[in-house]
Amino acid sequence: MHVDLTPRLAPRHPVPGPHNRQVDTQAQALPCLLDRPGALLTSSGRAAILLGLERLALTPDQRVLVPSYHCPTMVSPVLTLGHQLGFYPIDADGRPNLAWLEQHAPADTRVLCVAHFFGLPLDLRDVRAWCQRRGVLMLEDCAHAMFGQGEGGAVGALGDVVIASLPKFFAAQDGGLLLVRQPARPVAPLSPVGLKGQLKALLDNLEISARYGQLGHWRLWARPLLALKQLLRGGSAPAPSAAPQAAQFDPASDYARIDVALCHRAPTRAATRAALQTSRGRVVARRQQHYRALAEALANQAGMHPLFPALPQHSAPYVFPLWVDKPDAVYQALRACGVPVSRWDWLWPGVPDLAGDQGKIWSRHVLQLHCHQDMSDQDRNWVIDSLLTYCKS
Ligand SMILES: Cc1ncc(COP(=O)(O)O)c(C=O)c1O
Repeated sequence: MHVDLTPRLAPRHPVPGPHNRQVDTQAQALPCLLDRPGALLTSSGRAAILLGLERLALTPDQRVLVPSYHCPTMVSPVLTLGHQLGFYPIDADGRPNLAWLEQHAPADTRVLCVAHFFGLPLDLRDVRAWCQRRGVLMLEDCAHAMFGQGEGGAVGALGDVVIASLPKFFAAQDGGLLLVRQPARPVAPLSPVGLKGQLKALLDNLEISARYGQLGHWRLWARPLLALKQLLRGGSAPAPSAAPQAAQFDPASDYARIDVALCHRAPTRAATRAALQTSRGRVVARRQQHYRALAEALANQAGMHPLFPALPQHSAPYVFPLWVDKPDAVYQALRACGVPVSRWDWLWPGVPDLAGDQGKIWSRHVLQLHCHQDMSDQDRNWVIDSLLTYCKS
């Protein structure tokens, strides 16, 4: 088989364009958080966490527990609001370690943040029961799981606060979602995005769409707008955004910082439209296809194994988690040649070593292979070939 490992412009995220609105046929309909009554669209997932915590009206001395496997954006809203922070260990299936919680959860714990990692719905009934026994509120982080249903019900069914992130599933550059079961504080309306911000979001979308050849029939009106934008910019072409590659995680950096005013702003119209008008069947079906193809191709390979080989039936994965025995050089090489892959190697400083915890181990060994609807089969095969080549070298 010919292996083409030349760098390839494979999109890291869903791509804007008219293709998002095709008619769904024969697609599996999954529960979607956008359909939940009372869902509020926010400017981002981290904004939804911050707003959700605000609505619970915690006191500063109360503690929020976050999983040891996390994205720093799950932690920074907690510290921005001045709450106590703690970490808890996760089991091999990604659920909170209940024995640890039972024995070691600090008495001042008021909120437990639980995430459906990778978009694979967890059964959280036991965790919910623990929370209820202890008078703890559950923040169900569905940033990776906009869709889906597991044995414990639909994603987002059990949380006192539920949050999600629009760009992870739709061709949006901003946006999140918040549900609060019983707000302790009234909900202040979010401030609208100004005309300049709306325009920028529209033009950014067109630029991304053009970069990946997805303008379709939009090109008639989009091309003059893009030409005007280029003229205003002085003729230079936009550089594809590179992922941050700092050697060490810096909690004061942009990645973790929370802009509190932005958290209280609504999403852009472009993001709202992308979320509400995208045909969901294609999103779900393509993600499932990619996941299953990756699971098949990467099973029984030396030096790696799919972390969860079987995709739960009623799920739409965010990424495909792959365990790699010697991940460091492979991850750097994959990123350098543009493979859409992430790794949560930037844990918040001070995450303790906890007995039986998988979180810290995953943060080193688990690569998150993107598997969104705007990756083609060729993109996916190139990801597989790249992985197999780098893991053998
Ligand atoms: C599990 C999880 N929660 C929350 C967030 C924050 O979402 P956003 O990037 O939309 O702010 C992320 C972002 O990566 C995430 O992975």
